[in-house]
Amino acid sequence: MGRKSLYLLILGVLVAYYVYIPLPDNFEEPWRMMLTNAHLNTIGHLANFVQLLGISNSMDSFKIFMSFLEVSPTSDENVTVTDTTFNNIPVRVFMPKRKSEALRRGLFYIHGGGWCLGSAALQHYDLLSRWTADRLDAVVISTNYRLAPQYHFPIQFEDVYNALRWFLRTKVLAQYGVDPERIAVSGDSAGGNLAAAVTQQLLDDPDVKVKLKIQSLIYPALQPLDVDSPSYRENSHFPLLSRSSMVRFWREYFTTDPSLEKAMLSNQHVPVESHHLLKFVNWSSLLPERYIKGHVYKNPIYGSSEIAVKYPGLFDVRAAPLLADDKKLRSLPLTYVITCQYDVLRDDGLMYVTRLRDAGVPVIHKHIENGFHGAFSFLEFKISHRLINDYISWLHENL
Ligand SMILES: *[C@@H]1O[C@H](CO)[C@@H](O)[C@H](O)[C@H]1NC(C)=O
Ligand SMILES: *[C@@H]1O[C@H](CO)[C@@H](O)[C@H](O)[C@H]1NC(C)=O
Repeated sequence: MGRKSLYLLILGVLVAYYVYIPLPDNFEEPWRMMLTNAHLNTIGHLANFVQLLGISNSMDSFKIFMSFLEVSPTSDENVTVTDTTFNNIPVRVFMPKRKSEALRRGLFYIHGGGWCLGSAALQHYDLLSRWTADRLDAVVISTNYRLAPQYHFPIQFEDVYNALRWFLRTKVLAQYGVDPERIAVSGDSAGGNLAAAVTQQLLDDPDVKVKLKIQSLIYPALQPLDVDSPSYRENSHFPLLSRSSMVRFWREYFTTDPSLEKAMLSNQHVPVESHHLLKFVNWSSLLPERYIKGHVYKNPIYGSSEIAVKYPGLFDVRAAPLLADDKKLRSLPLTYVITCQYDVLRDDGLMYVTRLRDAGVPVIHKHIENGFHGAFSFLEFKISHRLINDYISWLHENL
């Protein structure tokens, strides 16, 4: 073997070592996942390196990388796409081009990205809204909101809520030709968190007369109090969203102070004063048995009382919709929930499904056995198209 082939062999082994990750047997496109993961990790390493050099925060570098994936608002043969603002919040509007005598469905979409990343202009969100508008013959509003680490809770929530309230005004609905009785709110991941939160908030808002017909929550984040549930344990190193990244996103949502992240990683961040909230996130009683498997519920180790004072958002329903009481949940609209087996957030969704059903809310729950967090957004995977088709068909029948 020549020296050149030896070098090539070593390089090959190193690349394989860098790319290879063990994945479950039922995983559909393992190599695609390994490459996607390696790609994201490389961006992550570069971002950390830039932070190490003191040039910029790693989250900001991530934002710059992501901005290359944005597309301008471009109409196609079926859908007119424009950027505008609702109550000063930038939104992207997708209007079907075909003539319609009747009022249309309205769908308000909230993108994911851990409250730190993403926008309505990201190519996959743009495509999703385009497909939804076309296939449902719906007016789709895809909202933006200000992001962490520059902005913290409740800014993200308030931006989304203000844009939604603007949309739900009689005058605006009429202007877009939207039927006030056929409106849904949808979101994925952090957007699912915001969707659940604004849907709850609307119930108590005397100024909004319109009632949502549907909320769709796609692998939503719903609570930061227990980050040691079976799904957090089982998927703590799963590609695309590890436990430590999810904890980092939660922390960034509330504060730039890294000490909260440390307390959360050891799951010792709930002070004894907030003990009464733990029943709402108690997976031991809220998860169906088949998801608990052999996991043993540990009684909480309480954190410092200062936490509730410094980061009240952790215990606020606008950040943690799972903390709402049953009385509040009872009035929620028909709910569509997607949970994925390979997702730290799986149990957040499952617990919400249990709590909503117990409160008498009609819930359509799709659990995807070989699904993973991000499956809705990474369009290069086959599973992504199956999930999106299912979601749009369901909305077609129910909205
Ligand atoms: C527009 O709608 C037609 C008919 O449904 C479809 O065949 C075509 O692919 C659509 N175009 C785009 C760009 O989606
Ligand atoms: C959680 O639920 C289990 C079983 O239902 C119960 O034994 C435990 O005390 C609960 N813990 C909290 C903090 O609610």
